[in-house]
Amino acid sequence: MTRRVAILISGRGSNMASLIEAAQAADFPAEIALVLSNRPDAEGLERAKAVGIATLAIDHKAFPDRESFDRALDAALGGHDIAFICLAGFMRVLSDWFVQRWAGRLVNIHPSLLPLYRGTRTHRRALADGVLVHGCTVHFVVPELDAGPIIAQAVVPVVPADTEESLATRVIVQEHRLYPQALRMICDGTARLENGRVVFSRGWDASGTLYSPADAERNELQ
Ligand code: GRF
Repeated sequence: MTRRVAILISGRGSNMASLIEAAQAADFPAEIALVLSNRPDAEGLERAKAVGIATLAIDHKAFPDRESFDRALDAALGGHDIAFICLAGFMRVLSDWFVQRWAGRLVNIHPSLLPLYRGTRTHRRALADGVLVHGCTVHFVVPELDAGPIIAQAVVPVVPADTEESLATRVIVQEHRLYPQALRMICDGTARLENGRVVFSRGWDASGTLYSPADAERNELQ
């Protein structure tokens, strides 16, 4: 069964592009049915249009408060018969009303190994702390920011010469691998939210690509 998925963006949309590309595979359990942005000038909208995906801009500035914007968002998603939502660089905090309405069907990608470094400037903060591993996380969205149950993570080693930019460059490569894998798991029912925890319907190999797509890169760096 192919699930109809919406991707919500605010900017360049590189994760969006990786999801669109992955969903083109014949056996992928999701179809990217809509790309929606709260910023009409988001670069990602043009990228999605160019490959024939339906796009929509709902400018949050046109709404008096957070929830009225979220209600317009919800109506648009309903109109496109959307089953799951992927946040991909969507820079708006969603209301509790919206998050609860889409509970278990709303996921996000975050550029850190949560629960470390919620919020912004994750690469800079990781470098400042001197951590040796960093990475990215796909998680179900809950009202508390970047705090939802974890579906998949990829580990990226931090090397002494790293700058914020070099680390960001290696993390985004892993984001582009991880998000499609996680979306596949959600849409085929391998990972689902139950009582606030992620339940996996089949085991998976912790040394395999799902757990750490960075393994190959790490080995090269050693
Ligand atoms: C990514 O780093 C993602 O983890 C974060 O926002 C960034 C979006 O980048 N939530 P892009 O628009 O997908 O290129």
